[in-house]
Amino acid sequence: MTDEQTLDVRVTDGGLGAEIRGIDLRTIDATGFADVKQAWLDNLVLLFRDQQLSDADLIAFSRRLGELDHAPVQETGRRFVGGMPELYVVSNVVENGQPIGSLGNGEAVWHTDMSYTELPPKASALYALEVPPTGGNTSFVNMYAVYDSLPDALKQRIAGLRVKHDGTYNSGGFVRQGVIPSDDPREAPGALHPIVYTHPETGRQALYLGRRRNAYVEGLDLAESEALLDALWDQVEHSPHTWTNVWRPGDLVLWDNRCTMHRRDPFDPDSRRVMHRTQIKGESRPA
Ligand code: OGA
Ligand code: MN
Repeated sequence: MTDEQTLDVRVTDGGLGAEIRGIDLRTIDATGFADVKQAWLDNLVLLFRDQQLSDADLIAFSRRLGELDHAPVQETGRRFVGGMPELYVVSNVVENGQPIGSLGNGEAVWHTDMSYTELPPKASALYALEVPPTGGNTSFVNMYAVYDSLPDALKQRIAGLRVKHDGTYNSGGFVRQGVIPSDDPREAPGALHPIVYTHPETGRQALYLGRRRNAYVEGLDLAESEALLDALWDQVEHSPHTWTNVWRPGDLVLWDNRCTMHRRDPFDPDSRRVMHRTQIKGESRPA
């Protein structure tokens, strides 16, 4: 178990997620960081409120978990925000006719970050700079728990199968830069990963789906693949093992991308939401 005596960890009742109180992410020492890391592995998603992070601070904290991935190219083709290739801006704000970030103000559907790549990031850290008065909440689901709750027959059915994680659309439904969209899941670009994934640090098994749109189970007829995916996604949509963050400016949420998915509620397009994200490189291919 964990050595969290030094940390104030408030576990939520959703089956994942914990708030860590009383620490400043700019100044935690090695022991504090080790406790945070263990709390993160145990709780899958951590919330730190009232932080005051510059982009450099966000990047420096994220780097303590490992090397960073460059952010995906934004919907407008923009990259290297403020000269920082690690920074991904999630925002609906438009400046000089150009969106400053990605995902707009609509719903962002359930997904895993960047799992359309061969080596997806193990973690993401999302920091809230400006949030709307209502809406735009972000929910997380525990994919260990979803796997555990599958009927045995379904577990047997998916053992050894791989699923394509689509690289055509982002979670806001926008086509990724440079991709010619196809809605045939067999043709769509993406990466194949095992549907059941053993977490490299905890050794626990999780369902690994990535995203629903354009997903395809390798080797099956399209109709069979769709039916199997619908059955699996039904378990996600009805999972009680979720936790939602109602954002405040200064919130930093750190999630484990290997055993959670997340989604975002829509919000009023006339309000501003500005979030900065980093993504920490995975160390091994999902297996
Ligand atoms: C992300 C993401 C949703 C949100 O940053 O990866 O999906 O709530 N964000 O902004
Ligand atoms: Mn995301």
